[in-house]
Amino acid sequence: MQEHIDTNRAYWDDAVPAHVASAFYDVASFKAGRNTLLPVELTEVGDVAGKTMLHVQCHFGMDTLSWARLGARVTGVDFSAPAIAQARALAAELDIKAHFIESNIYELPAKLDERFDIVFIVFASYGVTVWLPDFAAWTKVAAHFVKPGGFFYLLDGHPVMGMLDFDQALPAFKGSYFDRAPQVWQGEGTYATAEKLEHNTTVEFQHTVGDIVTALADAGLSIEYVHEFPFAAWAALKGMTKGVDGYFHFPPDVPQVPMMMSIKASKPA
Ligand SMILES: C[S@@+](CC[C@H](N)C(=O)[O-])C[C@H]1O[C@@H](n2cnc3c(N)ncnc32)[C@H](O)[C@@H]1O
Repeated sequence: MQEHIDTNRAYWDDAVPAHVASAFYDVASFKAGRNTLLPVELTEVGDVAGKTMLHVQCHFGMDTLSWARLGARVTGVDFSAPAIAQARALAAELDIKAHFIESNIYELPAKLDERFDIVFIVFASYGVTVWLPDFAAWTKVAAHFVKPGGFFYLLDGHPVMGMLDFDQALPAFKGSYFDRAPQVWQGEGTYATAEKLEHNTTVEFQHTVGDIVTALADAGLSIEYVHEFPFAAWAALKGMTKGVDGYFHFPPDVPQVPMMMSIKASKPA
C-alpha cells in the first residue's frame, strides 16, 4: 500500500503547480470571490454556517476555502505538501479562516487530537475513491471524525466510470466493473491540464457501489441516500460538454450512464 501511496503522492505533488496555473481551476476568479462549489454538493450538504467540517483530500484548498466563505469552520487534509502549502497561501492572501493539515488520510487519526477535531460534517468530493487502496480502512477514518448526530458526505465519480473506454467520445465499456486489482496508468496530462507531469504514473483502485455502501455501514454510519447522476464534474470523455450548471454532460440522444454518485451517511446521536 505504501508504494502505491508514494507513487500517487509524487504525481499529485507535480499536479499542484500545473493545476494552480490551469483554466480548469481558474484561481484568479476564485481570488476575486467565485465560490468553487457546484450545485450538487451545495444542495445536498446544505447550510454549513457555524458547523465544523473536515474536508478530506482537499487538493490545494479552493473548495475547502469556499466552504469557509459560506461560514463553515473547516479543516482541509491532503497528503501533498505543495497542495497544503498552496492552500495555506490562498487562505492567508484572501484572509479566509481555515486550517490545513498535510497527512496521508490513513494516518490522520494519529495526528489529530479528537477532543478538538471531531466534526459535524466529513466531506469528500470529486476524485477521492480511486486513490484509496483500502476503502474499508478509509471509511473507518472518515467515520471516526464524525460527531454523533453529524454526517459523512461523499460525491465522486460513479464506479461505472472505471469501466469506460476513455479513447471513445461517448459511453463505451472496456473494463470490468469488478476489477479490484490496482490499475497503473501513465497519463499525458490530468483532468485539468494537458501539461505532462514529471511523475506521470498513478495507481488507481475501483470500488463497487456495494463495496462503498457496505464499508460505510460497517463503519457504523447509517446510509441516508445514494444518488446517481448522468453527468460529471470533469470531461471524462471527449463527447461531454459543459452545461450552465458547471457539469459535463453527454448529448441527450445517447444512452446515459451513471457518471457520479453521492452518499450521505449519518452517525446516530
Ligand atoms: C482529484 S483531487 C481532489 C480534487 C478536489 N476535490 C478538487 O476539486 O480540487 C485528489 C486529491 O487526493 C489527494 N490524495 C490522494 N491520496 C491521498 C491520501 N492517501 N491521503 C491524503 N490525500 C490524498 C491528492 O493529493 C489530491 O489532492
